[in-house]
Amino acid sequence: MTTLELPVLNSSLATAAPATLKNGKKIYVETYGCQMNVSDSEIVQSVMDTNGYEIIHSPDTADVILLNTCAIRDNAEKKIHERLTHLKYYKKRNRNLVVGLLGCMAERLRAQLLELQLVDIVVGPDEYRRVPELVESALNGDKGIAVKLSRVETYEDILPLRTEGISAWVSIMRGCDKFCTFCVVPFTRGRERSRTLSGVVDEMKSLWDLGFKEVTLLGQNVNSYRDEPSGSDFADLLIACTKAVPQMRIRYSTSHPQDMSDKLIYAMAEYPGICNYIHLPIQSGSNRILELMNRTYTVEHYLQRVEKIKQLIPNCAMSTDIISGFCTETEEDHQLTLDVMRTVKYEGAYMFSYSPRENTKAWKMGDDVPDEVKQRRLEEIITLQRIHSAEVNQPEIGILHSVMVEGPSKRGNNEWRGRTDTNKVIVFPHEDVRGYVVGDLVNVRVHTVNSATLLGTLE
Ligand code: SAH
Ligand code: SF4
Ligand code: F3S
Repeated sequence: MTTLELPVLNSSLATAAPATLKNGKKIYVETYGCQMNVSDSEIVQSVMDTNGYEIIHSPDTADVILLNTCAIRDNAEKKIHERLTHLKYYKKRNRNLVVGLLGCMAERLRAQLLELQLVDIVVGPDEYRRVPELVESALNGDKGIAVKLSRVETYEDILPLRTEGISAWVSIMRGCDKFCTFCVVPFTRGRERSRTLSGVVDEMKSLWDLGFKEVTLLGQNVNSYRDEPSGSDFADLLIACTKAVPQMRIRYSTSHPQDMSDKLIYAMAEYPGICNYIHLPIQSGSNRILELMNRTYTVEHYLQRVEKIKQLIPNCAMSTDIISGFCTETEEDHQLTLDVMRTVKYEGAYMFSYSPRENTKAWKMGDDVPDEVKQRRLEEIITLQRIHSAEVNQPEIGILHSVMVEGPSKRGNNEWRGRTDTNKVIVFPHEDVRGYVVGDLVNVRVHTVNSATLLGTLE
């Protein structure tokens, strides 16, 4: 799962629930962290909307400001502290303003956060049904906290209040049981649990009816998905989804290399609705480090999975996550990471320097790689990735892609942007006369490439 770490600003709502009696209070939710948090904020907004709150898209006139937080690295939490400093200004203007912290940092730091004068409520990822009750008490001056993790909560019955667009996130499972030694997620999100297959398929159908054209199925480790009653696994779920809505582009994130089954790769190869793009985090190219990380696979296993993917889905794009400077990482280990990158040649990568997290197993292993070394290794990884991103795009020249139109390009100049099945952004001249709109599929032939973007013309 990729972390955004930037606030995802809410835009206007496409699927606003039927009018509920409003209570005159306005709420603003700001989201940090991964897509799972984006999806959770949609759940929270749905719960608040049902309880009479008006959802607004700026903190200026809000009665309630909720930050949905991330705890994955130290700087993710620092960002929240900085944001809280800014929010002091709003509290000065409106002494009755309620400020709440939700999400993974809330779950990790719990009551400590209530000690911050500004914070009125703290709510963990499995307690979002209680947000209205806690907000109401806070509006009456009482601080509150709800951070119990659940073994069963999936919010299956709550229809997320989605933001406008053609792309939707659908959480299919919550929690993580992998316990990678560096990672806080098993502690902040609790045990793995899956939604029902029928519930997910029904949601896919209704999303299609609402005009969504692309869905990303979300989980920390989607390959662990299980529909207990039927025994269906993630591949079965993907097949059921694409059969229910064959025209919908279906993506997913994140898969764990240990559980990347042949069955799943065959399903991707067989069904055109399942996009040919796989995010498969490697973390390190050294088996010794992978073992210390408790990643439960070897580099050889990982490369054998990549081989299988490339063999069955030749045009499949791949991205990864890499951590530099995990404890005891030597120069040799680092070189092994660069080697794996050279072997796979990823289309993209999310690259981080190791950030020790309290109470994880790795925390006790120490943090012996000096910051400058971590940073230098990270820069080498980023530089190599940049070269690869440009290189793997070269063969795209001349290729005709079916592109989903996303809207005007950032470059302006009457250019539009879309996305290939393989998740690459492609920019093409906008031609009104063709009459296409956002969400349509158009044919674009690539004529120029750079590391981040393809440029093409409509055919
Ligand atoms: N479930 C996903 C990852 C979720 S966290 C998976 O297993 O692939 C997203 C990424 O953040 C991880 O893949 C890892 O690369 C990075 N990450 C997690 N904990 C970290 C830490 N303590 N320091 C640095 N990076 C970390
Ligand atoms: Fe964290 Fe590992 Fe679970 Fe991913 S699989 S969320 S890195 S513990
Ligand atoms: Fe996501 Fe950050 Fe939590 S990456 S699962 S919001 S710790």
